[in-house]
Amino acid sequence: MLAAVTAMVKTEDFNPDHNNWWFLKRLTDGTVQAEGRFAGCEGCHGTVAANDYLFNQGTGGTGQ
Ligand code: HEC
Repeated sequence: MLAAVTAMVKTEDFNPDHNNWWFLKRLTDGTVQAEGRFAGCEGCHGTVAANDYLFNQGTGGTGQ
């Protein structure tokens, strides 16, 4: 079952401390649970900061 959709968008000068990523988590009923600078997303994705905060970059994932 689909529970939520997450997105990351790179936005110029939005959040230089975290490579300017804007995070979004939206539930299937339309509720936006997290948007913009979100410590939960940043913390986990920060473990791959050396890979531009992406887990799948270059391996066919959504990272470009
Ligand atoms: C518990 C750790 C953790 C947290 C918290 C987390 N992520 Fe992720 N995220 C991952 C992992 C691991 C992957 C790679 C999953 C895979 O390869 O199947 C991923 C993949 C992604 C991707 C696909 C691009 C990529 O990096 O491969 C997006 C977009 C994404 N997460 C957005 C978010 C957003 C938005 C939030 C906050 C609402 C968030 N994530 C919070 C661990 C996390």
